[in-house]
Amino acid sequence: MTYTIAVAGKGGTGKTTFTGLLIDSLINEKEALLAVDADPSMNLNEVLGISVVSSIADIREEALKRNPKFDSMPKDRLIEYLLHQTLIETDSFDLLAMGRPEGKRCYCFVNNLLRRHLDVLSEQYKYVVIDNEAGMEHLSRMTTRDVDLLIIISDPSKRGLLTAKRIHSLVIELNIPIKKQLLVINKLRKENTEKIITNARTLGFNNILALPQDDQATIYDEEGTPLVDLPETSPLKMAIVDFAKQIQNENNTPSEQMVNSNIPRG
Ligand SMILES: Nc1ncnc2c1ncn2[C@@H]1O[C@H](COP(=O)(O)OP(=O)(O)O)[C@@H](O)[C@H]1O
Ligand SMILES: [Mg+2]
Repeated sequence: MTYTIAVAGKGGTGKTTFTGLLIDSLINEKEALLAVDADPSMNLNEVLGISVVSSIADIREEALKRNPKFDSMPKDRLIEYLLHQTLIETDSFDLLAMGRPEGKRCYCFVNNLLRRHLDVLSEQYKYVVIDNEAGMEHLSRMTTRDVDLLIIISDPSKRGLLTAKRIHSLVIELNIPIKKQLLVINKLRKENTEKIITNARTLGFNNILALPQDDQATIYDEEGTPLVDLPETSPLKMAIVDFAKQIQNENNTPSEQMVNSNIPRG
């Protein structure tokens, strides 16, 4: 069974950083993982240290074009073919980029075919992890599947928390079926953590994960170094590794920790 995680939040709160590090922590040899970059600015690949050539947006355009090379191919087959061309496969996970949002043209027919193929593709993975834009437009278009875990990310500001609350309402309006929700408050400093968690609870969030401000992450970003290369001692990375273990345990999959604890010591 596929476990789908969607990450949402306003720009700059750390969605891509978190999504990239979560993907890196969930990767293991036994379970396939599909990373989806659903933010038009497409930079999840940079955090993960890989390059992207084409996106789902290009498939939509290609499918509506007249192309002698593909004219004899039924649209449905063409979309399936283009989707597999667009999928980036690495040794440890696959990546799909959604690309630009749609223009004024009607893509309804293509979108329906795409959604079906994306659903079929998703079923081949244990984890699907989606980095969304704040508007959540792609998410509602890309799948008919339930989202098992919606993670809304906020910075510690009051405004950030209020935006998180708005995104929560938006998801309900969009009728995206969500099984579980989590608020992640990122960039917390020790001295303000408790107070901000209390603020978030007052706004109605009760499932909360606190993540520390980690200056090394900012420095890596400034230098263009993939964040997955952060050292194991990075407080942000350590917190996300722990969280990934929780997800794996809830899904009854052996996490590294459990496997290691089965190895006799000495
Ligand atoms: N916990 C953290 N500590 C310090 N800097 C962070 C942390 N999380 C994210 N950042 C920095 O914040 C900036 C925005 O992060 P990013 O993941 O691109 O946000 P988003 O995808 O939400 O727009 C980046 O420069 C990133 O390095
Ligand atoms: Mg981003």
